[in-house]
Amino acid sequence: MSRRLTNTNAALRHGWHPVARSGEVADEPVAVRLLGEPWVLARLDDGLAAFADRCPHRLAPLSAGRVDAHELVCGYHGWRFVVSGECTAVPALGPGVPAPRRARAAPPWGVVERHGLIWIAPEEPFADLIEVPEADEAGFDSVWLEPSRSSACAGLLADNFLDTAHFPFVHAGTIGAGEDTVVAPYRVTQDDDGFVVQMEQRVANPEDPKVATGEHPLVQRRWSTYVYRPPFMLRLRLDYPDAGMINTIQFCLQPEDEGSTRIYTRLLRDDLGGDAARMAEAARFEQAVLDEDLALQERFDLDGLPLIGDPPRGDPLRGDDADPAEEVSIRADAAGVALRRVLASLVDRATRLPTSGSGQPSDGRDRPRTTARRTEFRRTTIR
Ligand code: FES
Ligand SMILES: [Fe+2]
Repeated sequence: MSRRLTNTNAALRHGWHPVARSGEVADEPVAVRLLGEPWVLARLDDGLAAFADRCPHRLAPLSAGRVDAHELVCGYHGWRFVVSGECTAVPALGPGVPAPRRARAAPPWGVVERHGLIWIAPEEPFADLIEVPEADEAGFDSVWLEPSRSSACAGLLADNFLDTAHFPFVHAGTIGAGEDTVVAPYRVTQDDDGFVVQMEQRVANPEDPKVATGEHPLVQRRWSTYVYRPPFMLRLRLDYPDAGMINTIQFCLQPEDEGSTRIYTRLLRDDLGGDAARMAEAARFEQAVLDEDLALQERFDLDGLPLIGDPPRGDPLRGDDADPAEEVSIRADAAGVALRRVLASLVDRATRLPTSGSGQPSDGRDRPRTTARRTEFRRTTIR
């Protein structure tokens, strides 16, 4: 049987996942879903807290409680929890009586706020958070799209983001209009825990102002660089060397439940000079492109992304001999094949681990690299 990666696979607990925009968590606790489990986020005086959204007393949702300075107060019987999860007060026992030893809210291994998002790693992650260097470079404007939600699983959506052969078909109304259907050979190389995909293309660039004046041709060179970090963090940098423009898209996915994935998309551009109206227009266009993708992804009748195990000798596009690939892949799918291999490796690695509980809470910032052993990756060589 071929394996598929669903949104609730336990191996995904070993990864950083976005669970909210920073601005979505203010004075009140907020309930979010991740890998089929409920979590609560709260800004306490001592920092950002995340807990399994079940009070240790009677398993009431802590998200139905309230924030009081440095404590999250359960709405059912008023037990109080600090950022570490320790219970500091049990009203029914009276003042000064210590809480039972097991009365702890359960934090994830890590919670961190970065890139304008809040991230949770339920267990020690196999890969670091994705970097977005453009965010710190002068001259870049940045905007987040409103998060979208899809019934498609995160694995399929990540694959869709890495796929270029669909442009002339799915995006005939936007970026794919008139695009060549032939996908030129491109490079996929291992990079830290994930991989990098590099393509050179020639595309229409109507957004270059010098096209209208005749100084630049409409069809220009474009260098596309995809950076992938498991499980579902992606960045696409589009360099237009003729126009001197860089357009980067950050794309991160929150596998909420089976049949529900939340999508966070951010644009970073260095050619708009702080022009808010043009940035808003770019965001609208990107949303239209995403909507075209989601309209098709919703139609898939697949509960998960088919994984590809170690390639047998002689046929890198198949799984192992006893486990033939569920899909037919071609050269143009090299990036998607790499995605399936990295995720298969992640699942295998998690399966080999002894069962572990949640670790101590962490803000994630001060951790050393967590990837002592890197995801095994085989260079994708497809003819
Ligand atoms: S269920 Fe939370 S205090 Fe009782
Ligand atoms: Fe697309």
